[in-house]
Amino acid sequence: MVKNICCIGAGYVGGPTMTVMAYKCPEIKITVVDLNQKRIEAWNSDNEHMIPVFEPGLAEIVMKVRGRNLFFSTNVETAIDQADMIFMSVNTPTKEYGKGKGMAADLKYIELCARQIGAVSKNDKIVVEKSTLPVRTAEAIHSILDNTGSGVKFQILSNPEFLAEGTAINDLLNPDRVLIGGQDSPEGHAAAEELTAIYAHWIPREKIIHTNVWSSELSKLTANAFLAQRISSINSLSALCEKTEADVTEISRAIGADSRIGNKFLTASVGFGGSCFQKDVLNLVYICKTLGLEEVAEYWDWVIKMNDYQKHRFADNIITTLYNTVSGKKIAFLGWAFKKNTNDTRETPAMYVADILMNDLANISVYDPKVSEQQIFTDIAHVNGKTDEDNQKQLSVVADPYEACRNAHAIAILTEWDMFKNLDWKRIHDSMMKPAFVFDGRNLLDAEKMKELGFYYKGIGK
Ligand SMILES: NC(=O)c1ccc[n+]([C@@H]2O[C@H](COP(=O)([O-])OP(=O)(O)OC[C@H]3O[C@@H](n4cnc5c(N)ncnc54)[C@H](O)[C@@H]3O)[C@@H](O)[C@H]2O)c1
Repeated sequence: MVKNICCIGAGYVGGPTMTVMAYKCPEIKITVVDLNQKRIEAWNSDNEHMIPVFEPGLAEIVMKVRGRNLFFSTNVETAIDQADMIFMSVNTPTKEYGKGKGMAADLKYIELCARQIGAVSKNDKIVVEKSTLPVRTAEAIHSILDNTGSGVKFQILSNPEFLAEGTAINDLLNPDRVLIGGQDSPEGHAAAEELTAIYAHWIPREKIIHTNVWSSELSKLTANAFLAQRISSINSLSALCEKTEADVTEISRAIGADSRIGNKFLTASVGFGGSCFQKDVLNLVYICKTLGLEEVAEYWDWVIKMNDYQKHRFADNIITTLYNTVSGKKIAFLGWAFKKNTNDTRETPAMYVADILMNDLANISVYDPKVSEQQIFTDIAHVNGKTDEDNQKQLSVVADPYEACRNAHAIAILTEWDMFKNLDWKRIHDSMMKPAFVFDGRNLLDAEKMKELGFYYKGIGK
């Protein structure tokens, strides 16, 4: 029976996942560790607004279980030593150097984790891959752990996380399924059963799927590839709609009613963002290429190309509509996060659209209810490589949506925050330069109402 869990990585996955596990398994002590001291301090803060991950419902549960059976710490070695089961929930970004640059997953954090586990462990442990990893990564982890010379035995399970940011708590409490990949051996089955027993505290056993390790690893990449593909597919057709007076929202409704297709993930937009879709599809492409499967690689690569095309199309449309120049014009950005109900901005389309408009000498004024000014400047610097001082000449961040829009030539909606639907749009119209343009990258607002108020309103695929 597992009594003591350590989770390495206190990020968007490790934090919420372990919070819910601790909440549902009060008899198990869970310690979430991270090298990033600031992040751990934030998780330990008594002010719920300081919790580093914003997710609806998360802070309330953290406050209930933290100090009871959930602990956040920077003491990685002690937590590993005391644990029966260790989750690896570290980041696996796209490699930015060397072989596989721009495509392969960078596994240096995972390798470091495995080496730390190997160096510290004095008794047998179950190691769980929670991070999204290329197929056959468990082999490399095995090789590191089996060669420590300590005689300690490790079982490695793959247990990818399927939560979506913005709905993480609900997804963790009521998942469609939990996937556990283990070795086909008595020890492998026993380890998988230990993990199954933990999830069975709150998830019906029939929703817990068991596979071999490789299928589990590859299922996560496949799931993200299919989800990203749906967005790129509907976005590709949004471009055709704009040329033909078909309406992409009507098409989504019409095809989504077909139970073979289903109605989720059919909303056309400025493009997908987030830390996962792009990196996981690129990783899939890379794996296929290295295995000589060129056609398969190319097929999935188009999902990414289409997403880039959509972001460019959105920005180009703003420039073209504003009489082919945005030089010196104020463009208000409503939203910066990659989707609503999260403060995560990794790969947000907003930063790429901002970069294109800033290259055309626009002045951008950003309002986002959950993203900090500092984060926005970090993001834009990541795209254009300029200093904050330089970027401040063209980009400002404000704490009020009405201020962002005042005297703007155009508004671009980049995140589908619900609050934007309830703004006083008449007041905004009165305060803007005329004609007052709205480019709705999320098809969030009611086109007819916006037109009645006097806006030139442009949704995606309409
Ligand atoms: N974000 C999502 O929605 C999501 C969903 C499903 C799966 N995933 C996968 O989960 C993994 C983690 O993603 P995330 O969004 O939580 O990343 P993140 O960057 O938010 O968090 C990772 C954390 O790991 C820490 N870390 C790295 N190496 C460490 C080490 N050796 N010791 C201690 N701490 C270490 C980092 O400091 C960081 O705080 C990735 O593989 C990702 O693909 C993410």
